[in-house]
Amino acid sequence: MGFSFTVKHASQENRGRIGLLETFHSRIETPVFMPVGTQGTVKAMTVDDLRAIGFQLILGNTYHLYLRPGLDIVSEAGGLRRFANWPESLLTDSGGFQVFSLAKLNKVTEQGVNFRSHIDGSSHLFTPERVMEIEMGLGADIAMAFDICLPYPSNFQVAKEAMERTHRWAERCLKAHHRPDQVVFGIVQGVTYRELREESARTLASLGFPGYGIGGLSVGEPKPLMYEMLDYTVPLLPEEKPRYLMGVGSPDALWEGVARGIDMFDCVFPTRIARNGTALTSLGRVIVRDARYARDFSPLDPNCQCKTCTEYTRAYLRHLFKAGEILGAHLVTYHNLYFLKQVMEEIKLGLRTGTFEERKAEFFARCAN
Ligand code: GUN
Ligand code: ZN
Repeated sequence: MGFSFTVKHASQENRGRIGLLETFHSRIETPVFMPVGTQGTVKAMTVDDLRAIGFQLILGNTYHLYLRPGLDIVSEAGGLRRFANWPESLLTDSGGFQVFSLAKLNKVTEQGVNFRSHIDGSSHLFTPERVMEIEMGLGADIAMAFDICLPYPSNFQVAKEAMERTHRWAERCLKAHHRPDQVVFGIVQGVTYRELREESARTLASLGFPGYGIGGLSVGEPKPLMYEMLDYTVPLLPEEKPRYLMGVGSPDALWEGVARGIDMFDCVFPTRIARNGTALTSLGRVIVRDARYARDFSPLDPNCQCKTCTEYTRAYLRHLFKAGEILGAHLVTYHNLYFLKQVMEEIKLGLRTGTFEERKAEFFARCAN
């Protein structure tokens, strides 16, 4: 298989659409949520678990995998898909977010970013060329361009200069990339400035990427402001290319993002909160440790068909978390990912049948997750 994206159905209600994303390893219906496998594993989940839920596309992080175990080991294993035994599709993020959030920044120049590892303090240089080399070695189906992700709020002039540099780096990524079984997506930046978001979308669109990330969002700005940025950005991106809202994946944001024309999402949120015992359910969030569940022998979510909800009770899950048993993290992670998959199915059904707004309103009324 090669890489392609086809819009199959466009909603009459909003900018939402159903698409088919074909990568070198799977055919994926969009909109799609991608579980995050930062270090080459979606935390607490096996490959079989992920496939059983129906995930065909997951994310890995260049920054983490480059630092540990290192590109040499992953390459020697035959790439990240082989290393992690993941037979389906994979996307790698470029480190453009992590070097600005996790690492100790030494210096950002036109050439690239000099940073210190958050693991051992060692010094490294990420340039667009180097990041492409690493992502080619990791061998995902989709590699993200190396970008500059600024915090919110950022001063206009600083945001403008970082965005312009991100555009130059995007061109350098395209030039340096040569791996016929992998594509590179550009990343729109521009913080929360309409003018910059529009310029970024236009500039990247003119470079002709096979898909576009929308980055620099969900970094502390109010959600309405993030949605406003999507309203400015999406109409300027080519209609026939996938749009990926990076680092966003709460249930409410899936509805709002899809309505604004987003095709792909990723977020650590559902897996991260699962590990501290918070479940997303059809009736709202459940704090598993809560004393009120001590003798609650009903399912975590009465409307869920997942393994956790059909085989275990709230009282048992609470016990696992209270006792520090790692099975608790697995079972709630499994449920949260299953839940998000079902939310996406509901969203697609809404798009397909012209009932999106109705279903969205019902969802928000029922579970203000
Ligand atoms: N993940 C979430 N936001 C971003 C971003 O702006 N850039 C990159 N590379 N990854 C992200
Ligand atoms: Zn469940």
